[in-house]
Amino acid sequence: MNQAGQVRASAVGRLRAAGCVFAEDEADLLIAAAGTPGELDDMVQRRTSGVPLEVVVGWAEFCGLRIAVRPGVFVPRRRSEFLVGEAIATARRLAPAGPWLVADLCCGSGAVGVAVAAGLRPVGQVELHAADIEPAAVACARDNVAAVGGTVYQGDLFDPLPATLCGRIDVLVVNAPYVPTSEIAMMPPEARLHEPRTALDGGPDGVAIHRRVAAAAPDWLAPGGSLVLETSERQAPETAAAMTAAGLTAVVSADDELDATAVIGTR
Ligand SMILES: C[S@@+](CC[C@H](N)C(=O)[O-])C[C@H]1O[C@@H](n2cnc3c(N)ncnc32)[C@H](O)[C@@H]1O
Repeated sequence: MNQAGQVRASAVGRLRAAGCVFAEDEADLLIAAAGTPGELDDMVQRRTSGVPLEVVVGWAEFCGLRIAVRPGVFVPRRRSEFLVGEAIATARRLAPAGPWLVADLCCGSGAVGVAVAAGLRPVGQVELHAADIEPAAVACARDNVAAVGGTVYQGDLFDPLPATLCGRIDVLVVNAPYVPTSEIAMMPPEARLHEPRTALDGGPDGVAIHRRVAAAAPDWLAPGGSLVLETSERQAPETAAAMTAAGLTAVVSADDELDATAVIGTR
């Protein structure tokens, strides 16, 4: 076996021993990301200690895009690609060729807003605004949003958005935390130990932030504009009820393959 083969075999062995199911694939990604043998050793060590692969290599694949991810920032999930698809379809129903004003609240890395903008761009103009409460997420989102043009703000939900957006947002896409507080302890260690609690905790029934977003959304949405919120199958009735209580017309949409659910509330 040549030296490269030995390096790979060693990385695969360490990853497999730590319980990584896709040890070969992960080793190849780490080898491609590492600049030196020392860096590779460090990366394998971080990965075997449980740090999410995406955080170790510094990026996640999402909707066919490479999204930068940093320590302390929520790793975008495959499931949220459904939310992106629903947001794009909602935008196109409202204005088939744009232009669209899109806002992504609780944006984390900015993956969702960036993917919505990238999906709409070939068809029409998009103005993207994104916001998150965590400074690490805002810094990461600024890097990602730069690729599609747009602005990232820091603060609680709608608070940091410019008042000039009031009554003008066509699509408000939100993947807020929705894990019930008592269920965080049951999450896989990669999420529980390596993602910030602010990114996971949705309050006692997981729908607390959905209620806050839904209550304020009508003031920010354009006539005919929609709030597109990721939720779970179990929580969807409560998420939809929050939108109905705010005066929006709510529709639940789901995808079994991705185990994904979204509620679309239209003004
Ligand atoms: C589940 S993560 C989703 C991140 C991103 N939307 C995605 O899908 O990859 C939830 C995000 O909401 C942010 N967040 C939590 N509470 C917030 C609040 N009150 N205002 C703004 N952002 C908040 C967290 O910092 C975290 O980045």
